[in-house]
Amino acid sequence: MDNSILSLLKKYDVPTPRYTSYPTVPYWDFSSIDQSKWKQSVINTFNSEKGELCIYIHLPFCENLCTFCACNKRITKNHTVEDPYIRSVLKEWQIYRAFLPSLPVIKEIHLGGGTPTFFSPDNLTYLINGITADAIVSDDYEFSIEVHPNYTTEEHLKKLSEIGFNRISIGVQDFDPKIQFVINRIQSFEKTQEVVEWARKYNYSSINIDLIYGLPHQTVNSVLHTISLIKILMPDRIAFYSYAHVPWKSKAQRRYTEDDLPAASEKWEIYSTGKSLLEEAGYKSIGMDHFAMPNDKLFIAEANGNLHRNFMGYTTTKSKLIIALGMSAISATQNAFVQNEKVVEAYENKIELGILPLENGHLLDEENIIIQNHIHELMCLNKTTVNTKPLDPDFLISAFSKLKILEEDDLIKMDGDTIIVTAKGKLFIRNICSAIDAQLYKKQISTQTFSKAI
Ligand SMILES: C[S@@+](CC[C@H](N)C(=O)[O-])C[C@H]1O[C@@H](n2cnc3c(N)ncnc32)[C@H](O)[C@@H]1O
Ligand code: SF4
Repeated sequence: MDNSILSLLKKYDVPTPRYTSYPTVPYWDFSSIDQSKWKQSVINTFNSEKGELCIYIHLPFCENLCTFCACNKRITKNHTVEDPYIRSVLKEWQIYRAFLPSLPVIKEIHLGGGTPTFFSPDNLTYLINGITADAIVSDDYEFSIEVHPNYTTEEHLKKLSEIGFNRISIGVQDFDPKIQFVINRIQSFEKTQEVVEWARKYNYSSINIDLIYGLPHQTVNSVLHTISLIKILMPDRIAFYSYAHVPWKSKAQRRYTEDDLPAASEKWEIYSTGKSLLEEAGYKSIGMDHFAMPNDKLFIAEANGNLHRNFMGYTTTKSKLIIALGMSAISATQNAFVQNEKVVEAYENKIELGILPLENGHLLDEENIIIQNHIHELMCLNKTTVNTKPLDPDFLISAFSKLKILEEDDLIKMDGDTIIVTAKGKLFIRNICSAIDAQLYKKQISTQTFSKAI
């Protein structure tokens, strides 16, 4: 490996936020918001967005625990949990509906998890019909679902397509049996291929596959093997995530140790091998961890400067109102975030009381909004011009000295106050964003909070 890359990895592979939001969740100030401020912020954004919104629904149950997983999930084989959970989600939607000023226009529904297909096709249909019954579905809507092939039937995809689902995201991670054993996720290529074929049969217009680099025992050879199989499936999009090692939060990750993980240099080799194989196969790299075929909307959006990013990752929709339903789900308006209760029972209890089940949140101030915009532009456009006027001068001195170092390392180019991310800098985008993170500047959180940057 190129020595300069090795020294960059040593320097920059440190705990760093993923920037799916700004401020990042550990910096939220829950005392800045309450039920009534949140509702007002939803109404204001609803009005400025002319009633258009996206809905995210978190369906947390999984039958099997994948040890690498950092998602908010509940492991159970008991399917009696389905009915009460769906009732709660529909009731939560009714709480929102009761204070929205007019009929909402749904641009997107995304079912995430957990394993949304843990729920029966009939229950999912009941859930979606309950959401759309009292709303207008936009002409250019997108309905998408995350699936684990082992728990997905043809009936799921058939019924979901009948109620409008047109996008699917399939979890794979890695096809190597040794890695699948360690992560407790035995998933055959044939089963995955079957789900891809069903998705094509029922006219899903976009198929995504999730892969991860940096998993325990993963090697360059295993990624060669996985991508050779991906080339048979040829999904429209691929999310190639950096493995987030957060054992203080996801305890199942303690079933292996840091010694089982590829070292930073090997993780880099795995990523760059995967990236070149995907590019050879015709995919274009988008943002920090996505790949798309040139005819895919995500690629077109990046080429046209219309790429966006939210809690779910890169997206083509710029809706500023995301109403997120279900345990642990994170909602966003133009100036606030809230997160729901992270324990199923606590979530269901609050809904039973008829109140929004908020556990955390943050009302953005002017500085937050400026930095949020810069981070968004860096992540989606690879450049931003720092709006220096309203920002704290001491913070700016610190930010520009960090940017100078990033420029010396050829990760960015500075043109006056404009930061331009270089090709090399794209992999270090989290570090670049952290240079202009005013919250991080004000208060370093010393204990384990963030996964490593690369
Ligand atoms: C909710 S899961 C996808 C749906 C389904 N539960 C499955 O596993 O196939 C969302 C995705 O998050 C990613 N993910 C989960 N834990 C991760 C971690 N520790 N580091 C990086 N990506 C992770 C995986 O790629 C996974 O497919
Ligand atoms: S990776 Fe998917 S199936 Fe596995 S535990 Fe996480 S959410 Fe559940």
